[in-house]
Amino acid sequence: MTSITLAVKSQQMRRGPTPVRSVLANNSIRLPDGGHVSIRPARPGDIELIQTYVRDLSSGSRYFRFLGAISELTTTELHRATHPGPSNASLVLESHRDGAPNMIGEARWHLSADGRTCELAASIADAWQRQGFGTWLINHIAAQVKSLGARHLMAEILHANQPAQRLVRKFGFHALPFSFDPKVMCFVKELR
Ligand SMILES: CC(C)(COP(=O)(O)OP(=O)(O)OC[C@H]1O[C@@H](n2cnc3c(N)ncnc32)[C@H](O)[C@@H]1OP(=O)(O)O)[C@@H](O)C(=O)NCCC(=O)NCCS
Repeated sequence: MTSITLAVKSQQMRRGPTPVRSVLANNSIRLPDGGHVSIRPARPGDIELIQTYVRDLSSGSRYFRFLGAISELTTTELHRATHPGPSNASLVLESHRDGAPNMIGEARWHLSADGRTCELAASIADAWQRQGFGTWLINHIAAQVKSLGARHLMAEILHANQPAQRLVRKFGFHALPFSFDPKVMCFVKELR
C-alpha cells in the first residue's frame, strides 16, 4: 500500500463527510466539489504568495508553526523557503477550483548533515484544517525523503500544541524524553 493510499484510507475511516475523495496522482487530491488540491515544490517566484499565506494564518497557527510569535517571515526565511537545495525544500499546497490556485498549506523539510534524519514542519490554512491535508503532506514528505535515504522523521512541536502532537502520534512518531528548549517537544519516527 502506498503512502498516498494510506492517506486516503485514513480519510475513509473518518466519521462524516470528507473533502478527500480520490487521489488523482501522487501530488493531487480530488475535492468533492470538482476541484482538487495539489502539492508542489516552492519556487523563487513564490515569495509574495508564501508571505501572504503566512500573514493570513491565525496568530495561533502562526505561533504553533514557527514556535513563537511572528507576524511574517524575514527576507532570509523567504529566500530559504523559495530556493530548494539537495537536502531541503519547501512545499506549497494549493486548492484549484475555478480560476487561480489558492495556497492552503505549506511544509518545509531538511535533512541532517549525514542525510539520515529529516526534520519537518508544516501548516494548513485555518479554514482547511482537520480535513486530512496535514496527514497527506507528512505522507508526501516521508515518501520523498525516504527515497533520498532518510531513516527518521523528526518534528519539534510546542508543548501547548496538542493538535500537532495528536497528528504526529497518530502517524507513529514518539516523543523523545529530552529537548534543548523546554517549550518544545521533539518527536521522532523511524521510516520503514
Ligand atoms: C497541525 C496541522 C498541520 C494539522 O493539519 P490538519 O490538516 O488539520 O491535520 P489532519 O486533518 O491531517 O489531522 C490528522 C489528525 O491530527 C489530529 N488533529 C489535527 N487537528 C486537530 C485538532 N484541532 N484537535 C485535535 N486533534 C487534531 C487528529 O488526531 C486528526 O485526526 P482525526 O481528524 O481523524 O481525529 C494544523 O492543525 C496546523 O496547521 N496547525 C498550525 C501549525 C502547526 O501547529 N504546525 C505543526 C508544528 S510545525
